[in-house]
Amino acid sequence: MSEAVRTTLRTDAEPTQETAPAMDAGFLWDFWYPAVRSSEITGQRLLTAMLLEVPLVLGRTSEGKVFAMRDSCPHRGIPLSYGRLDGKVVECCYHGWRFEACTGQCVEIPSLSGQDKLKVERIFAGHCPCEERDGYVWVYMNSPGTRLPETIPAAPALTVFSGKYTITHLSCELPSHIDHGIIGLMDPAHGPFVHQSWFWRKRGSIHEKAKWFEPIPNGFRMSPHSPSANSAPYRLLKKITGEPVTTTIDFVLPNIRTEEDRSGKLWFSSRATVTPVRRDLCRIDFVAAWNLFFLPASIFRMFGRVFLRQDQQTMIRQAEGLRHNPRLMLIDDADRPAKWYFALKANLIESRRTGAPMVHPLNGPVMLRWRS
Ligand code: FES
Ligand SMILES: [Fe+2]
Repeated sequence: MSEAVRTTLRTDAEPTQETAPAMDAGFLWDFWYPAVRSSEITGQRLLTAMLLEVPLVLGRTSEGKVFAMRDSCPHRGIPLSYGRLDGKVVECCYHGWRFEACTGQCVEIPSLSGQDKLKVERIFAGHCPCEERDGYVWVYMNSPGTRLPETIPAAPALTVFSGKYTITHLSCELPSHIDHGIIGLMDPAHGPFVHQSWFWRKRGSIHEKAKWFEPIPNGFRMSPHSPSANSAPYRLLKKITGEPVTTTIDFVLPNIRTEEDRSGKLWFSSRATVTPVRRDLCRIDFVAAWNLFFLPASIFRMFGRVFLRQDQQTMIRQAEGLRHNPRLMLIDDADRPAKWYFALKANLIESRRTGAPMVHPLNGPVMLRWRS
């Protein structure tokens, strides 16, 4: 499909840039996505990653700045990751073209003779804006075939509520389309079945819930409330501070769920992103920070891993069923957040297409009721 397009040779010196994916994979472009952990990019190592089916090569200059280029040489397409980095310039392994790592600009073509008129500096390797935040390297994925806007928003940052805190990261891959990954993340009804465990909750603790939701830009918020009295960690927190626990949960496009729990001076803040790698693979990156003195990172990670593994195993099983293209349903109210997600996504794409303001699927606060 797209291979036919990609192998077209350009014989002029114009920069060769993006080729659109062969069909719409349901990706949301023009957003930041976490590509790799900051700690993975050390020395002069070139690292590969894939976001939205775009192969990337990442590295760090000798000045410490991270960069992300398309992992494809603009000359004849060999992955630049087979080349090498000298701290400033990436050199292709095939004919030795050299590219300035942060801008992608070509700085040297070794085969040119003194007679050649080719303007080397007009050739660019594809490159993407790149920022480090909360221990991740974020890459701004610009729509294929479009120019980068003049200004792009800052990469997302985890909210913290004090100077000193513990922070930890977990991640896992899901063999799922991004939409299933995301609606799995926001699904309130699977808890008692998927996440049964002695430290969290038992299946028998299922009970009716009613929560207010409100619109926020590009997303929705579960209005601040006191979390389930069934959950042991929240009970403990309340016992220690003697103050009520309030939880605020937000979802914002393209893929971010944040949760902030506060009780007196104590707080816990987390963010989960579900990032599309390919149309059949996505990855959850989970980062949490807190100032709860009684919660060591090792203990949290142990529980967190169990949680993620439960979700991952469920998604692996679901993928098995989805291979046969079954009809699916979304029911009220438990699946209403999933419906909002699909509406937000569709309305954003529509507003980008027409230039008209985005229609928000929520006109105001709504109460949802479900049992979980
Ligand atoms: S393919 Fe990269 S320099 Fe020729
Ligand atoms: Fe879950």
